Amino acid sequence: MKVTVISGTARKQGRTRIVSSYIADAYQTDLIDLSENILPIFNGEEEQLLDDNIEKLRTTIKDSDAVVLVSPEYHSGMSGALKNAIDFLSHEQFSNKPVAILACAGGGKGGINALVNMRTVARGVYANVIPNQLVLDPIDIDTENRTVTQATEAKIKDLMEELFMYAKFKKA
Ligand SMILES: Cc1cc2nc3c(=O)[nH]c(=O)nc-3n(C[C@H](O)[C@H](O)[C@H](O)COP(=O)(O)O)c2cc1C
Repeated sequence: MKVTVISGTARKQGRTRIVSSYIADAYQTDLIDLSENILPIFNGEEEQLLDDNIEKLRTTIKDSDAVVLVSPEYHSGMSGALKNAIDFLSHEQFSNKPVAILACAGGGKGGINALVNMRTVARGVYANVIPNQLVLDPIDIDTENRTVTQATEAKIKDLMEELFMYAKFKKA
């Protein structure tokens, strides 16, 4: 089964990137890292589709059985980088595809708005966003060792198991 994580931050030192890399390593998924895969701002011109990073994004997501979206919460929404990436995609990549969503928040009871925003936008490309979802605060992430805490590992495991269940169900 091919699963792809999209790390929705342009910040190389961001917590979102740590969480995304943890999931990609622990669950042997593909990773689209928007701090490495720099995308232009979507302008609707056909020639943008020839850009290597856009081509990689569109092909990788289309070929995936399931997708994990990880975004920082910025001003009560997902990051502009992730929304811009999704603007290059559509039902052609996402239709009926199980998608798990995680938000990295500031720890002041934030994160839920980014999740709701991701769920709404993912529905707009006909993705099947699974019910389980996660907000991760700074306390859940071990920035020094660039990994997540043990308690967070367990929560991510629950989320990923649910994602795999829906992905298998879709294939049947
Ligand atoms: C521009 C900006 C806006 C932010 N807005 C929110 C917010 O609305 N809610 C929240 O919980 N945290 C907010 N934060 C904190 C980030 O969500 C938090 O630091 C998160 O770890 C950022 O992910 P990153 O490290 O991958 O960039 C904001 C941070 C920045 C830089």
